Amino acid sequence: MKPGKLTLTDLSAMKEHGEKIVMVTAYDAPGARLAEEAGIDILLVGDTAAMVVLGHESTVPVTMDEMLFLTRTVARTVERPLVVGDMPFGSFNVSDDEAVRNAIRFVKEGGADVVKLEGAGPSLSRAAAMVAAGIPVMGHVGLTPQSETMLGGFKTQGRTAAKARRLLSDALALEAAGCFAVVLEAVPTPVAARITEALTVPTIGIGAGAECDGQVLVYHDLLGLTEGRAPRFVKRYAQLAESIRTALTTYADEVRSGAYPAPEHTYGMPEDELELFSGAVASEVNSVDRSFQTDARAEPARPGSGTASGASAEGVEHAHGKS
Ligand code: KIV
Repeated sequence: MKPGKLTLTDLSAMKEHGEKIVMVTAYDAPGARLAEEAGIDILLVGDTAAMVVLGHESTVPVTMDEMLFLTRTVARTVERPLVVGDMPFGSFNVSDDEAVRNAIRFVKEGGADVVKLEGAGPSLSRAAAMVAAGIPVMGHVGLTPQSETMLGGFKTQGRTAAKARRLLSDALALEAAGCFAVVLEAVPTPVAARITEALTVPTIGIGAGAECDGQVLVYHDLLGLTEGRAPRFVKRYAQLAESIRTALTTYADEVRSGAYPAPEHTYGMPEDELELFSGAVASEVNSVDRSFQTDARAEPARPGSGTASGASAEGVEHAHGKS
């Protein structure tokens, strides 16, 4: 463990003292560095990477290898924040053994401190197996995007007494399976509040109200890198998409108009050196070895003509002074 790393004991002390836990997703080095500088406690290398970084329509397609690549990047960048590797769809669904094997990959190859997995049901024995293997696990119930189709879309969960009770028992079961924290996503505020009260481990809310022990948001959502309609719980603390678009448009305009680069962006050389250089230009141009220059410049090489440039092998060797 890196020195200064936030520990699981620190997290439970935060719950005990009513100190809010701050979590955000991170997928790359600049984002992770800025989050650490901002004092964020937990960085989740979320499978939302599939949508906000990799351009997929849902979280389902992201692979273990892609998640490991992103997790390594975040883990090597930060010291204090706890780094959570988010187990992608398919990495824990088949068996406890496979779940443990993939959780180990997150820790050994990805440098994650802990892992997160979605759901209860079969995820309970997966979580228990991973904890038994020495890997701390964060649970995740409520809206679990990997099961979006089964849940009938991105919908608030636990809006009836029966469903709320089910959520509570799932969260308690995850705690009993050894999870050190549980994410509650898109859950009515009073339900999340009761679950938070009932659990001894911290709850981290996303669309679950202010009474959770901590909050998590997706980096691209909170910075306004995603645009258009967002879920109700998203608060955009900046409008970075607009700033980036404006900057890129201005850059493109300036390159096309010649306004960029301006003298202050360029390098000069001493006058006397420049004079010497200018005098040498003509003779340098005239003395260029043009034996490489063949008709191929004007006429692409025909297949089977010997070399890519269309020159004979002998000609190339001769040009290098090897024959
Ligand atoms: O993958 C993710 O970003 C998440 C958060 C939305 C909790 O699971």
